[in-house]
Amino acid sequence: MTTDSLSFIQGSETLTTSEQASLLENLSKIEDANVLVQNVSKAISLSASASSARELTQLPTSSCASTLDADVESKAHWRNTGLKAIADNQVAVLLMAGGQGTRLGSSDPKGCYNVGLPSSKCLFEVQSEKILKIQQLAAKEFNTEIPTLPWYIMTSEPTRKATESYFIKNNWFGLKSNQVTFFNQGTLPCFNLDGSKMLLSSKTELSNAPDGNGGLYKAIQANGILDDLKAKGIKHIHMYCVDNALVKVADPTFLGFAIDKKFDVATKVVRKRDAKESVGLIVLDSKINKPCVIEYSEISEELANKTEPEDANKLFLRAANIVNHYYSVDLLSEMVPKWISSQEYLPFHIAKKKIPSINDQGEFVKPTEPNGIKLEQFIFDVFPSIELNKFGCLEVERTEEFSPLKNADGAKNDTPTTCRQDYLALGTKWVKENGGIIEDGSFVEVSGLTSYNGEGLEFVKGKKFNNGDKL
Ligand code: UD1
Repeated sequence: MTTDSLSFIQGSETLTTSEQASLLENLSKIEDANVLVQNVSKAISLSASASSARELTQLPTSSCASTLDADVESKAHWRNTGLKAIADNQVAVLLMAGGQGTRLGSSDPKGCYNVGLPSSKCLFEVQSEKILKIQQLAAKEFNTEIPTLPWYIMTSEPTRKATESYFIKNNWFGLKSNQVTFFNQGTLPCFNLDGSKMLLSSKTELSNAPDGNGGLYKAIQANGILDDLKAKGIKHIHMYCVDNALVKVADPTFLGFAIDKKFDVATKVVRKRDAKESVGLIVLDSKINKPCVIEYSEISEELANKTEPEDANKLFLRAANIVNHYYSVDLLSEMVPKWISSQEYLPFHIAKKKIPSINDQGEFVKPTEPNGIKLEQFIFDVFPSIELNKFGCLEVERTEEFSPLKNADGAKNDTPTTCRQDYLALGTKWVKENGGIIEDGSFVEVSGLTSYNGEGLEFVKGKKFNNGDKL
């Protein structure tokens, strides 16, 4: 970085000579400012053309299956295959927990969030219980020692410390401490709205933000996670997002579906609720005959609203991405070095945000409207590098698998309240199906340690439960 670089920084003219010198010193750690500014301008034009550059249609049926209508034998076979891989210590879980949760309005990592369950468990605890339970089920059903599911948790500079101390404070939620590995994703400077200048968080420091969940690939390479996976003999990865109260961590059915069909990458979807739901869509780019995702921030209104030619009540593109992805470790070993080597695979996208920063006049401001751009890579942008016959899509039941925590209470959807209600509704349904007695309007909480997916609840038969009971 040279003094010329200061021209790429908003408000730098207002700094004193010594502030400029300290800033330049800090800037020496980042890439060329010129290149970064070019990246932003590419990202701005990409976001303007994202849905028109591709020809997007539904994936062919040969790539898809649904747990809603698959026959019982197939589902049992998939579950058995996935559980066997877990019993054989061939599965690891990769969690993306580096996001800052700005829409939720909480500065704590989302995984530490307590959605108000009777037990007050946070999302990390809910997910830890699923891991502990599926390990036990695998051991029981295959008569082996309890396997260990390594849990790799991607954090970012803003979420790392709080996440790690939370696990320590809570005794790793019953997991073995060496089963959990934290690693950080990278950060990138933030820009003003037209992308011409980088923003300062103080007079001597750039304003930085995590590089998006697509930063995962660079981070697993840079932090030796790929080597660790291979050293441990792991063959299959379940990768997911922290902000889903119903996530089935290491779901054996999903793993078995991918393993059985020899997919390199697979993904779970639910039916998109309506044209406006903030979800990406798993689709086919028919220009290149490859799978891809069109993100909600980039889809045109027309495409989002398009319906099936023969059923105007059904959206044409409705396979909503719930960020549950399967990867074979062989594929990651082969492709990660390629993916991270070029923006061809992982382009930058822009997110317009309110970024507290120094303005043109040299004053520190906390904006009330978006004043800047964060650059983000998207995890799914590498999907078009997968051959169509190596990519699978499994539709699952929303009420059993997807209740995202995105917004603060008061919003219509995807809030702490909807997460709590969905979690309790599922457990209550399981208990009733097993003959437990619960008054209409009352809800019980079923811990993941008691049941992973509704199994093992025979003991509730004929018993009466009150609102808020914990099983
Ligand atoms: C994401 C998906 C969207 C999907 C929706 C479902 C992406 C790019 N978009 O959108 O297609 O339909 O979830 O809920 O995957 N994260 C990081 N580091 C970051 C940014 C995010 O680890 O720099 C993590 C978050 O902690 C979270 C996940 O990625 O676990 C998704 O984060 P967020 O950016 O909030 O996703 P959405 O915009 O909701």
